[in-house]
This record gives sequence, C-alpha cells and structure tokens, in this order.
Amino acid sequence: MHELSRDPQSTLAEVIRLLWERGEAVALTGAGISAESGIPTFRDKGGLWDTYDPTVYASIEVYRRDPTLYWTIRGDFIRHYDQYQPNPGHLALADLESLGVLRRVITQNIDGLHTKAGSPDVIELHGSIREIFCLSCGRQYQAPHVPPGLPPRCESCNGVLKPNTVLFGESLPVDALRQAQEEASTRAMMLVIGTSVNVYPAAALPEIARRHGAVIVEVNPERAFPLVDFWLPGQAGTVLPRLAEGVRKLAARGN
Ligand code: APR
Repeated sequence: MHELSRDPQSTLAEVIRLLWERGEAVALTGAGISAESGIPTFRDKGGLWDTYDPTVYASIEVYRRDPTLYWTIRGDFIRHYDQYQPNPGHLALADLESLGVLRRVITQNIDGLHTKAGSPDVIELHGSIREIFCLSCGRQYQAPHVPPGLPPRCESCNGVLKPNTVLFGESLPVDALRQAQEEASTRAMMLVIGTSVNVYPAAALPEIARRHGAVIVEVNPERAFPLVDFWLPGQAGTVLPRLAEGVRKLAARGN
C-alpha cells in the first residue's frame, strides 16, 4: 500500500494523474456527498441517527406495524424532493464520467442527486425516495406527488404507501448489488466518497476492490476506511471539482 503522503497537493496531483492514466474508476458515495446539498448525514455529529434511532425509524419490521415513524423523518424530504439540487461534488463526478475516466457511480444515497447531476445509470444500492408505491395494491407514486397525511394513504385503496428505499432488515435490490460487486471487482480505481463505510453489504465494496488490486482513494474530511492508498481530506464539493479540473487539463493537453 502506498505511503499516505502528508501533502494534500501532491496527493491530489498523483490521484489526477492515476485517474487519467488508468482511466477506469468507479465511485462509491455516501451521505457525505449530499451534505452540501442540505441533506443531513447519518453518523456525523448532528446526523439523523443522532436524533432518531434507526432501528425504530428506519426498520421494515417497525414500518409494517407503524409507518408513521418513517414518514415523520422522511415525509418532508419526499414532499420537497424537487427542491434538493446536486452540489459541485455530484456535478464533478458527472464530469469525470463525461471525461471517460469514471465508469460508474454506486451510491448508498436515496436522494437521486447523482441522476439529477447527469450521471447516467447510477447504481442505487439503497433504492430511491423518488418512487413510492402502495403496499396493498402496488399503485406507483412519484416524489413529490404523494397524497397528504401521516402516513399518506393510497388514493385507490387507502393502503399504506412506502418509498422504494431499503430499510434496515430489508435486502438490497439484487441486480444493483450484483452490478456494484461486479464494478468493485473489475475497476482499476475506486473513489470512496462521503461514507463512513459502516453498513454492509455496501461497506464490503472497497475491500472487494482492494483485494483485486484497485487503487483506493478516499474523499472525506475524516479517515473512514483504513485501507486507502490515497486520502484527499476535505469536503466532496471542494475536492471533486479539483479532481475533475485536473483531469480536464490533462485531457486538453492529450497526455
Ligand atoms: N464531503 C465528504 N464527506 C463528508 C462530508 C462532505 N461534505 N460531510 C460529511 N462527510 C463524511 C463523514 O465524515 C462520514 O464519514 O460522510 C460520511 C457520512 O457517513 P454516514 O453518515 O454514516 O453515511 P453513510 O456512510 O452514507 O451511511 C451508510 O447507513 O443508515 C444507513 O442507509 C443509510 O445509506 C446509509 C448507510
């Protein structure tokens, strides 16, 4: 494993060079990349799980008994879905994809901001809050258009509505997980961005990438994943545009 250089500038330059030369990276993102879009993270100080116990507010077992709790913490987010916008971090990843050096974005986030930023074909490991469906008749709804009420009820059958997000105790979408594991086990580089690498099976992806020799780059104000080759300390909205700018300059020079 590379000696983690202390100087962020030289680390940045080295990561830019590697991105350009290896030219096939995959990104794994977490709540940290959306923090600068005004969406709270989970485990930071002041994060969602600081206030709400996820085993109560975000577990499928509780949801089936009492969906009010989940809608209490996510109802506003769903009803204001269109107001949340991608930040320079999301946009920089879409740029790196257009530059051809980032091949796929895998996200744990349910906010749809990578898609809004223009990333094609995002792997949404934990689903999306964009789609909501009736647990009884299956009728589909699209955020922000859900009926009023806490919890909102289906307009066709009065059934309980549930966003298409993975709650604790639910399995991840099989195809999304398979694609993510495929990307992690084949790409030459993985950018691990804004995640505490805490929740499996998503948290296994950087390890899968490392095992087959990928270069692991962490973008996070704190060190979250111990086995990184490069750590770019800082906010995603600051660091990722610098990465994209550096690659763009190399692409313009063609070297
Ligand atoms: N830029 C980059 N990283 C940031 C920023 C930022 N502006 N702000 C915070 N971070 C980092 C934090 O240092 C932390 O390491 O983002 C990480 C957020 O970690 P978590 O809150 O644990 O979020 P995440 O890793 O995405 O959680 C994984 O847990 O509860 C489940 O389903 C939920 O998808 C979520 C999963």
